[in-house]
Amino acid sequence: MTDCGSRYYLTINKRCVKVPVALSSMAGITDASYALLRKENIGIAFIGGFSVDEPTMNAGAKMADEGRHEFICGDPVSCIRDEVKKFEGSDVICGINIRGTSPKSYLDVYSAVGKDVIYEVDAHCRQEAMINAGAGEYLLKNTDTLADIVRALNEAGAYVSVKFRAGVSSNDSSLARLLWKAGADILHVDLMDFGSSKLKEIRNSCPLKIIANNSMNTFERVKEMFSHGADMVSLARNADNETLERLRVSIEEYADESGWYNAPKQLCRGGDLRGLAFCCMPIKQCPLIPALKKTGMSPKKFHDLKVSLAENTPLSSGESTCFGSLVWCCKSSTPCMFRDISLKQAGLSHQEYMRLKRRLSEGIIEKVFDERSEEESC
Ligand SMILES: Cc1cc2nc3c(=O)[nH]c(=O)nc-3n(C[C@H](O)[C@H](O)[C@H](O)COP(=O)(O)O)c2cc1C
Ligand code: SF4
Ligand code: SF4
Repeated sequence: MTDCGSRYYLTINKRCVKVPVALSSMAGITDASYALLRKENIGIAFIGGFSVDEPTMNAGAKMADEGRHEFICGDPVSCIRDEVKKFEGSDVICGINIRGTSPKSYLDVYSAVGKDVIYEVDAHCRQEAMINAGAGEYLLKNTDTLADIVRALNEAGAYVSVKFRAGVSSNDSSLARLLWKAGADILHVDLMDFGSSKLKEIRNSCPLKIIANNSMNTFERVKEMFSHGADMVSLARNADNETLERLRVSIEEYADESGWYNAPKQLCRGGDLRGLAFCCMPIKQCPLIPALKKTGMSPKKFHDLKVSLAENTPLSSGESTCFGSLVWCCKSSTPCMFRDISLKQAGLSHQEYMRLKRRLSEGIIEKVFDERSEEESC
């Protein structure tokens, strides 16, 4: 667990995220001043989208002629640089949503703007002109180009996000793995009408940060996304300060009360792989066994991994619990007298317990994806 802040422990591009809510870009609307008017209630602002090469600039001009909002700028790189500068001294992390057709188009922006911003590849725009230009959703059907862009940015040292709609690619799980291998840091997913099961599918495919997008306008929906794998949520159309503040306050309250703002559900209640942190000792037939099988980890290896990760932490105590150690214990929201007695003996609050479980889950996830990575490179 990164030692960042005391509430979310969430680091993006080497900075602490103060609120796990982002502004999602709207071309022609979301610029620095729009974002900074909302600075109290957001952690990241994705400004743009900006069209940065000739084909996308022509497409943007055509879309503007047809009545869409667009950022029209003769020298997009200098316009972006001016916008980014406005974030100096602010605690909002700036991301730039970019429409480009080749790695070079992105690298030109990177060499002028530098490492302090997140480079978001817009693989989301589905306007015909942009798709015909070879950008936006075109990249989801031409994933070699998409991966080349991500790889080039990553190798240059940029922090990379990819914005896309779920369900456009024939296989979102393979897409997530491809982007992970190419060097993406964030998947910014417009979930459309897919529910949290789509998010869980993507969560279980890669260890990247995930921002869930589309109609994240109520705390109930946000909480559902957090418990299925989202690190953050983002808003575009309803990103007024009233909505954002309501979300920020509810998320803060929940984080302080629970100790882990995006704790997964337990595996047998539909949780993602992070829920392995709450799993029992692997000795019975239950959803743990097939889940482990999918990860390629044997029950014995899982057992040993959890025990070793808990060593020298308070999770290794808990004699009065079902399996003799808190490392096998359930989520704090599941009432249990035996666990609570052990927590009391160890001097741990529920919040501290959940923070330890979060750290445990990070260790498990790291191992799961390390192994998967090795397998895939064989
Ligand atoms: C007017 C408008 C312009 C948009 N422009 C972009 C864009 O340039 N790049 C992008 O990735 N998404 C763009 N989007 C999509 C939004 O960022 C977001 O994914 C979508 O609106 C769903 O989220 P919401 O329900 O919070 O609005 C745009 C959306 C709107 C309504
Ligand atoms: S090991 Fe326990 S928590 Fe995990 S899936 Fe099985 S019954 Fe549920
Ligand atoms: S002691 Fe309670 S919390 Fe721990 S595994 Fe048993 S039922 Fe779950």
